[in-house]
Amino acid sequence: MRNAIETAVKKLEPLCGAGCEVGLILGSGLGDYAEKIQNQRTLNYAEISGFPQSHVPGHKGRFVVGELFGKTVICMQGRVHYYEGYPQSEIVSGVRVMKRLGVEKLLLTNACGGVNLNFSPGDLMLITDHINYSGSNPLIGPNDDSFGPRFPDMSNVYDRELREKIRLEAKALDIPLQEGVYMMFSGPCFESPAEIVMARTLGASAVGMSTVPEAIAARHCGIKTAGISLVTNMAAGVLNQTLTHEDVQETAARAAGRFGRLVDGIIENVF
Ligand code: HPA
Repeated sequence: MRNAIETAVKKLEPLCGAGCEVGLILGSGLGDYAEKIQNQRTLNYAEISGFPQSHVPGHKGRFVVGELFGKTVICMQGRVHYYEGYPQSEIVSGVRVMKRLGVEKLLLTNACGGVNLNFSPGDLMLITDHINYSGSNPLIGPNDDSFGPRFPDMSNVYDRELREKIRLEAKALDIPLQEGVYMMFSGPCFESPAEIVMARTLGASAVGMSTVPEAIAARHCGIKTAGISLVTNMAAGVLNQTLTHEDVQETAARAAGRFGRLVDGIIENVF
C-alpha cells in the first residue's frame, strides 16, 4: 500500500503546484460539490496502480485538484468503504496521500442515518466525536513512523477550534447545524432497529459506514480534521419505513445546495 501512496503522490504532485493546503472527502450523494472547484486537474483512482477502487453508485472515484476561495484544494470525489472488502489501512490511503502533498486541514463529509430523535432527514450535523464500532482500525499492522506514533491520542479527533469556528460560520450563514457523535458500523447492510437502540444508548446521534477510518488516519498524521454529516434518513426502526441507497442519494441531492453553502463557508472562512 505504501507503493500505491507514493505512486499517487508522484502523479498528483505536478497537479498541485506548490502544494495542496485543504483536503476534502465527499460522501454518498455529495460528490457534485467537486464541480465547484476551479481550474480542475483530475486523477482517477483507476489510474493509480494498487490504489483501492470504489464501486458504490454515486461515488465517482477520482482526485480533483483545483482552487476554491484562493486555496489549493485536493478533493476525493468518492471514497472507498470498509464493506467493499479492503482492510481499513488501505481505505485511508487517500488521507496519507493528502498528508504527503501538504494538506493541513481536512473536511470529511458523509451521508448518515439519524439516531437522535430530534433530527430530521435533510439536517446537517457537525461531528463532535466518533465511536469506532466497525470492528477494525486503519492503524492495525506495522506502524509507519513517518506518519505518526504507534499509539496516537484520540481525544480531539474532530479539532475543537475548527468545530467552534464552523458553528459560528453556520450561524453567520443562517444554516441550522445539529451536533453529535457519529458511530461507524461496518455495513454494507443498514443497521437493525435493535442496533440503533444500542447506538442511541451508547451516546451516538448518527450512524454510518465511513469517515471514522479516515478521521483516525488524519489524527495519526497530524492533519486537523472536521466532519459534516448529512442526515439522509432516520436510522432503522425510528420511522416505519425501509431504507434504500436510492433514498439516501435522493435526500443528499435535495440537500446539496445547503450542504454546498456550508462547505463553501468552511473552506473560505474556517480553513
Ligand atoms: N445507516 C448507515 N449508513 C447510512 C445510513 C444509515 O441509516 N444512511 C446513510 N448512510
